[in-house]
Amino acid sequence: MDISLKTSITLIGAGNLGYHLGRRLHATGAEIRQVFSREAAKAEELARATGAQPVSQLEEVKSGAGLYILAVSDGAIAQVAATLQQHLPANSAVVHTSGATPSTVLAPYFPKHGIFYPLQTFSRSREPDFSTIPICIYSPDEELEGQLAALGRQLSHSVHRIDDEQRAILHVAAVFVNNFANHLFHIGHTILKEEKLPFELLLPLIRETVDKIETNRPEDMQTGPARRRDQETINRHLAYLKKFPNFAEVYRALTKNIGEMYR
Ligand SMILES: NC(=O)c1ccc[n+]([C@@H]2O[C@H](COP(=O)([O-])OP(=O)(O)OC[C@H]3O[C@@H](n4cnc5c(N)ncnc54)[C@H](OP(=O)(O)O)[C@@H]3O)[C@@H](O)[C@H]2O)c1
Repeated sequence: MDISLKTSITLIGAGNLGYHLGRRLHATGAEIRQVFSREAAKAEELARATGAQPVSQLEEVKSGAGLYILAVSDGAIAQVAATLQQHLPANSAVVHTSGATPSTVLAPYFPKHGIFYPLQTFSRSREPDFSTIPICIYSPDEELEGQLAALGRQLSHSVHRIDDEQRAILHVAAVFVNNFANHLFHIGHTILKEEKLPFELLLPLIRETVDKIETNRPEDMQTGPARRRDQETINRHLAYLKKFPNFAEVYRALTKNIGEMYR
């Protein structure tokens, strides 16, 4: 069985990731057999874009697909797998797409299970470039793992075997560099909005922050009052932040942490 190109895929979940993954798999030649969303309109929209059959009841998911990809919320993976187990053959290949969830959540339901985790942030409104996205694959089943690697290479130049423990660690780091960094952008945006200054003024700075670390270590690129131990500036910033007590808390925690890392 070869999952790439010739094998049919059933996609469970039409959210931020399912929407893009399904369309990209279809565009690269994979046959998407069925697309599931509890919302019929969502399933139909993605099914139209992928040439698949839309389904809005898990009981309608047919057996016989070469691979079932569960792109559902982390908390729903086990429950969806338990429901699918009731009517799919026991030897069906089932993977999930979560960075934070071990592959073992699928083990009680499908012995042939694994992970197909694209390490990127996906929003429905933004078209991702899959070719550069690291695809982290894993399966305790050697044959399935080889097939997932082949499917990954169909989408991206960057395919990696990452086991459950490594993926959990990778996900912690990803939360820092994406979720927390984005939250800091949100704080900056809120402050400038409050003061009627355009956020666009910060965009070149944000871009340069990211560009610099393509070729340099982040710790070597750190600048700012916390790194310089410039207490007068820090005090002025904290005086301003009295109007944003929650942001002052974040400022203090990060300033302390930077100070501790550059003793
Ligand atoms: N978005 C990202 O940046 C990203 C990146 C890498 C990996 N992932 C992983 O991909 C998975 C999906 O994430 P997402 O961002 O696409 O989430 P999302 O946009 O919130 O979509 C979640 C999907 O899960 C379905 N779902 C939720 N609860 C369900 C239940 N009880 N039964 C059946 N289906 C249920 C939803 O179905 P309905 O359509 O019926 O509401 C929806 O299709 C997660 O495991 C996530 O960790 C996401």
